[in-house]
Amino acid sequence: MIGATHGQQRVRIAVFPVAGLGTRFLPATKTVPKEMLPIVDKPLIQYAVDEAIEAGCDTLVFITNRYKHAVADYFDKAYELEQKLERAGKAEQLALVRNVLPEGVRAVFVTQAEALGLGHAVLCAKPVVGSEPFAVLLPDDLIWSRGDGALKQMADHAQRTGGSVIAVQDVPRAQTGSYGIVATDSFDGQAGRISQIVEKPTPADAPSNLAVVGRYILNPAIFDLLETTQQGAGGEIQLTDAIAQLLTSQQVDAFRFHGTRFDCGTHLGLIEATVRYALDHELLSDAARKLMQNALDEMGVVEN
Ligand code: UTP
Repeated sequence: MIGATHGQQRVRIAVFPVAGLGTRFLPATKTVPKEMLPIVDKPLIQYAVDEAIEAGCDTLVFITNRYKHAVADYFDKAYELEQKLERAGKAEQLALVRNVLPEGVRAVFVTQAEALGLGHAVLCAKPVVGSEPFAVLLPDDLIWSRGDGALKQMADHAQRTGGSVIAVQDVPRAQTGSYGIVATDSFDGQAGRISQIVEKPTPADAPSNLAVVGRYILNPAIFDLLETTQQGAGGEIQLTDAIAQLLTSQQVDAFRFHGTRFDCGTHLGLIEATVRYALDHELLSDAARKLMQNALDEMGVVEN
């Protein structure tokens, strides 16, 4: 056991389901996986990987499809590039390339033969994960936080409770149809035990406005449940449906993390994240602010 206290196991394995087709970003995603789209200077997948490593994970499992070589290539060693940067004395850039995956962290790639849904993608990680609690991060949910990352906050909570933990945020009622929605027995403002979870309910049917976002810490019992989970919403094998089973026998907590989540699976979410990260960037902030102001001024002039 790594980093265990109070007899609870610290989550060590992070699963990144990145085998989706990314149809909302076509034509870009015809050849570039959605997870490789950059926010300022890093691809989405790197933000999620950094968050997992900060939370204490040392084994990263990428569920990819046969077209997504770019993700594996990105985490592979780039001998030629590293040599060139070394010879040119570009130490800073060399460090950036090497730090994509720090020493002591290993990456494992598993192919999902068919995009049968998020639940099915998670099930593909079973042979690597085995019988310990594990994290799932969806890289297109980018979570910006000034303090601890969202997964670290959740891992700390999981260590205290010993149960599964699912990240949630409040959404407007009108948007419940885009999310998994949970109901909790008791919610203390940050966390509460989930009593019900429903995938994409209409606002009228939604049990609350607490929506699931792409961070989970799951008990490995989820795998047996996923094996018998039938196709659900959208004809896909839904992780939500297996979690609905899990919570009938185990503690699964909803956890409202500190941080801002950007839905980078949508055009506007990707743009919003780019704007926020640019405005927060230590080197680009001032220039980015001016550039945005100029763009607004010019567009205003054109529109008048
Ligand atoms: P999305 O619902 O965002 O689907 O999947 P998508 O295919 O990536 O994107 P769109 O909707 O076509 O634009 C949520 C997460 O689950 C993964 C995706 O890669 C994404 O991280 N996923 C989804 C899989 O790994 N396999 C699947 O079969 C489905």
